[in-house]
Amino acid sequence: MIDTIKTHLQDVEVYQASSLDEVEQFRIAYLGKKGHITQLFADFRNVPNEEKKEYGQLLNQLKTEAQTKVKELQTQLSGSQTPKGLLNDITRPGQPIALGARHPISIVRDKVIDVFSRIGYGLSSGPEVEDDWHNFSALNLPEHHPARDMQDTFFVQTNPDVMLRTHTSSVQVRHMEANRPPIRILSPGRVFRNEAISARSHCVFHQVEGLYIDKNVSFADLKQTLMYFTKAIFGTAEIRLRPSYFPFTEPSAEVDIYWGLETEADYRITKGTGWLEIMGCGMVDPQVLKNCNIDPEEYSGFAFGMGLERMAMLLYQIEDIRMFYENDVRFLKQFTSIS
Ligand code: DAH
Repeated sequence: MIDTIKTHLQDVEVYQASSLDEVEQFRIAYLGKKGHITQLFADFRNVPNEEKKEYGQLLNQLKTEAQTKVKELQTQLSGSQTPKGLLNDITRPGQPIALGARHPISIVRDKVIDVFSRIGYGLSSGPEVEDDWHNFSALNLPEHHPARDMQDTFFVQTNPDVMLRTHTSSVQVRHMEANRPPIRILSPGRVFRNEAISARSHCVFHQVEGLYIDKNVSFADLKQTLMYFTKAIFGTAEIRLRPSYFPFTEPSAEVDIYWGLETEADYRITKGTGWLEIMGCGMVDPQVLKNCNIDPEEYSGFAFGMGLERMAMLLYQIEDIRMFYENDVRFLKQFTSIS
């Protein structure tokens, strides 16, 4: 019987495990309720009297050593299931690092900023919660003006003077009030409209506003600037300016680019015309300049405004505007390699 304990002592001493599961099995085999040690304690009463002392001492020693072994192996293996040697193997392949992607709206916004910064445009920003003056009145949209109906507004609580801005044109006003010409700015930002959400429209979206005020700025300057821009972003300077109406510009125009009619999709998105509307623009109305304390006899300028979602949808062929806001990683990770 004493020999059995001695054999166990040797086994415990040399025992090695390669996983925590194995250590647990070892623990159960020795220290569990039906394990060797419990069994050997139960056998104690059958041990001949003259052997009892040695038996007892060895058995206690076996118990302590088994407990120590379990503790040691647990510490060694916890934290990593990998056998120790492997951890030191510097030739092991690295863990893959999942790359994040930039949001397509950010990508397009930064492209637009970059293109205009090359011709001297700086950035300007304004608040998303606006007052009536900056969002409407200063822009030639007095109360009850029918053009206010073009933009369904979210008012803040019941105060008709406080609203979520419906366009970034409000930043034009703020910038002109606080700065003297020459002015050359771009204002990207979030805008809000009380509209039903569908594949084509959303109640929150992004615009970029552009404004250039100086002496002798003409419509020809506006056209050149737009051609430079469409060439840089869409790869074509073939544009047309369709007469339009905005209360804050006179004359006003809608900018179309020639998209082409090569594929079935081209027919669909251009409605068979080959032309695509991408933004609104015009010469800043003299009354708007006056509202911002700029003398229209001395200065003139142009402004333009575009929707970033629309641009991103065209550039990356995204069919549904809601994709931008759903945070679906399967959609977002497609932009990993686009900068
Ligand atoms: N604010 C217009 C809108 O939200 C866009 C726009 C049109 C801005 C013409 C301009 C402009 O600066 O000149 O629909």
